[in-house]
Amino acid sequence: MQKTNWSQDAYIQAWDFACLAHRGQTYKGPQPGIVYEYSNHPAAVAIEVIHALQHHPEYDGDLAIQCALLHDTLEDTPVTFAELVETFGQAVAEGVSALSKDSTLPKGEQMADSLMRICQQPREVWLVKLADRTSNLQYVPPHWSGAKTQAYRTQAWMILEMLGTASPALAQRLAEHIWRYAP
Ligand code: NI
Repeated sequence: MQKTNWSQDAYIQAWDFACLAHRGQTYKGPQPGIVYEYSNHPAAVAIEVIHALQHHPEYDGDLAIQCALLHDTLEDTPVTFAELVETFGQAVAEGVSALSKDSTLPKGEQMADSLMRICQQPREVWLVKLADRTSNLQYVPPHWSGAKTQAYRTQAWMILEMLGTASPALAQRLAEHIWRYAP
């Protein structure tokens, strides 16, 4: 039996924290009128990461999974970096920070800046970005314009190119999602 490189306890700790942090937040589903709880998203990202981890026993699975579950807590909730350090440690807090856009920068520079910071993080954090974009390419949000959709797709190629070496399996899955993503 292969030893796993992550623990249920680390998952549950981050999942509980993320659910509370995102409480009351929702996002739009593929059809008008369908609205999901926000926590649906980090859960989807985490399952992509868990699947990819099977191929990488050398990775710190707890770091990858906790960053996956918490990846939007700094960007989208009142949670602070200090709180993440205190609860999950420095490595998770820094991973989540790299995965967060810097809202003080012009909008057009935010993704490139975040990607640069992710590249300086361990590969576990790269996995989360690959998984995040894979999950976000499940469907085109109904209220998005064609131009916005195309830009999002182009950005996904950039993510794949910069971070794909962290996990060939997840890179392949992201590529498949990019190919079938269309306005
Ligand atoms: Ni996300």
